[in-house]
Amino acid sequence: MSIIIILYFTNIYAGCNDFQPEITLTDLLAKRKSLHLALRAQKLQNEQLKSRLNRSAALANIGTISAMIAHEINNILTPMGTYAELAANNPQDSELTRKALGKVVIGCRRAGDILDSMLKMASGQTQPKQPCNIAETLELVMDCLARDFSKDSITVKFEVPLDLTVSAVPVQLQQLFMNIILNAREAMLGSGGRLVVKAWRDTANVIIEFADTGCGIKPENIDRIFEPFFTTKSVGDGHSRNGTGLGLAFCKEVAAAHGGSITVNSQYGFGTTFCITLPAQPQ
Ligand SMILES: Nc1ncnc2c1ncn2[C@@H]1O[C@H](COP(=O)(O)OP(=O)(O)OP(=O)(O)O)[C@@H](O)[C@H]1O
Ligand SMILES: [Mg+2]
Repeated sequence: MSIIIILYFTNIYAGCNDFQPEITLTDLLAKRKSLHLALRAQKLQNEQLKSRLNRSAALANIGTISAMIAHEINNILTPMGTYAELAANNPQDSELTRKALGKVVIGCRRAGDILDSMLKMASGQTQPKQPCNIAETLELVMDCLARDFSKDSITVKFEVPLDLTVSAVPVQLQQLFMNIILNAREAMLGSGGRLVVKAWRDTANVIIEFADTGCGIKPENIDRIFEPFFTTKSVGDGHSRNGTGLGLAFCKEVAAAHGGSITVNSQYGFGTTFCITLPAQPQ
C-alpha cells in the first residue's frame, strides 16, 4: 500500500489560496534518486579532474627535473668542448693535446657522476653524504672551468681555510659552487671585476660567501632569482646566450637537501654576494 502524503502549503499570504501543490512520496523518492545520481556523477568528475591535475603536476615536475639535468650536464660539456676544440686546432702541440684529453676524461667522469646523482635526486633516493673539504672542492670546480678568468679581466681571490669540512654529496657540492661561480663570471663579463670567495666556521655551520663586483640584481628581480626558469639573460638583451634560469633553483634545492640555505644580497650596478650555509662536519 502506498502511502500518499499530501502536503498542503498553508497560505502565508492572503491571496495565495489557489496555489496548493500536491507532492507524493513517490515524487520525493524520485527527486531524491535523481539528486543522488547527479551527486555521484559530480563526485566522479571531481575525482577525474583531481587525478588529471596530479598527473599534470607530476609531468611539470618531470619537465623541470629534465631541464635541470640538461642544464647541469651543459655546465660540464661547455668547458669539455672548449678543450677538445683547442686540441683539435693545435694538433702539433702534444702537451696541449695531452692536457685537453685529460680534462675531457675528467669531465666525462664528472658528467656521469652528475647524471647519476640527479637521477637519484629525481627519484627521491637518499645519497650518502661524505666529509667534503671546502677548499679542495673549490679548487676542483675552478679546474673544471676551461676559460681563464684573467682573460675576461676578472680576478679571483680565495680566503678559505684549508681545514673547513662539511657533510655533503660531493658532486652536488661541486655543482652548487660551479653555478654560483659561473653566474658571478657572467655578471662581470665585458667590464671585468673581482670575485672574492670566503669561508668560515660559525658554531655548527660552515658559511661560504661569494662576493662579485658585477652588474648586480635589480631590486624588482631579487625575490625571483631562485624561481625555476627565471632568467634575465637573453641574446636579444646583449648576452652571449639565453639563460635557462635553472642554476639558482638547483642551488636552492641542493642547499635545502643538505640542511642548509642560500641567501643573496645585491646592489644593482655594484655587485652581488651569495652566502651558502651548510652544517659543518661533526669533529
Ligand atoms: N652574481 C650575479 N650577479 C647578477 N645577477 C645574478 C647573479 N647570479 C644570478 N643572477 C640573476 O639571477 C638570475 C637567475 O640565475 P640562474 O643561475 O638561476 O639562471 P641563469 O644564470 O639566468 O641561467 P643559467 O643558469 O641557465 O645559465 C640570472 O638570470 C640573473 O638575473
Ligand atoms: Mg646561472
